[in-house]
Amino acid sequence: MSPAELVNASPEYSAGSTLEAKGLTRRFGGLIAVNNVSFTVKKGEIFGLIGPNGAGKTTLFNLVTGLISPSSGQMLYRGTEVSRLRPHQVAAKGIARTFQNIRLFANLSALENVMIAQHLHSCSGVFKGVLGLPPAPQEERQIRQRSMELLALVGLSDRADEQAQNFAYGNQRRLEIARALALQPQVLLLDEPAAGMNPKEKHQLSDFIRQLRDQFNLTVLLIEHHVPLVMGLCDRIAVLDFGQLIALGEPAQVKTDPAVIEAYLGAE
Ligand SMILES: Nc1ncnc2c1ncn2[C@@H]1O[C@H](COP(=O)(O)OP(=O)(O)O)[C@@H](O)[C@H]1O
Ligand SMILES: [Mg+2]
Repeated sequence: MSPAELVNASPEYSAGSTLEAKGLTRRFGGLIAVNNVSFTVKKGEIFGLIGPNGAGKTTLFNLVTGLISPSSGQMLYRGTEVSRLRPHQVAAKGIARTFQNIRLFANLSALENVMIAQHLHSCSGVFKGVLGLPPAPQEERQIRQRSMELLALVGLSDRADEQAQNFAYGNQRRLEIARALALQPQVLLLDEPAAGMNPKEKHQLSDFIRQLRDQFNLTVLLIEHHVPLVMGLCDRIAVLDFGQLIALGEPAQVKTDPAVIEAYLGAE
């Protein structure tokens, strides 16, 4: 066990594990979108989630982030159940995400989009939250400054005042990452962050995700279809098919798994 893992070891959760799905199941009517899925994600890991369209990947993210509740089973974060909390409660615990269908405030500037996320975060203190108070001027300045730093981190500081809707797809995805980081998360969930990016941008994104993990000590969960990106970036990969976990392991293992090749990788 590394020193970092020792520090985080507590009786309630297995050493080093950050997220733990236990028999996680979600039905939509007769459809079982996520079917009895169990796995653990280790602290500091880049954990890939792949599988065909409709396999249940986004539903799994929605279960982790409180957008929907499980029909049965649990998702634990540091030993505590999060899958039945509200989205803002999950965010306050340090779990942030981006969306497959980008959810930015289209008419607001890049800077405003990031600042709003920080407002929500810094106003989540009990008293301020209850009273609905705006932040003090000094706090406002700090929020603006930190938002500009995050925009610089994702390469958008020179476009801080432009409306989000004017950004190309790749830049909107980068902006969503900046907004997620504004919540100062420990866990970052990225739902198809490379969608709509060209090959060069995909390559840069891969390096960037690794850089973020190292710089912010993040644990990253990544849904992504671009197989070379996933295989090159992830420490471990889980494969979903029709809601079921059909494989879990290191990229080299998963890549050669016959069930995975049949369900997803095909002749690639
Ligand atoms: N809110 C919902 N209501 C009904 N069916 C849903 C809902 N969300 C997802 N599904 C269904 O669950 C399955 C898994 O969807 P999804 O998690 O989006 O797959 P993926 O992200 O792997 O492409 C699909 O069949 C989808 O149509
Ligand atoms: Mg999806």
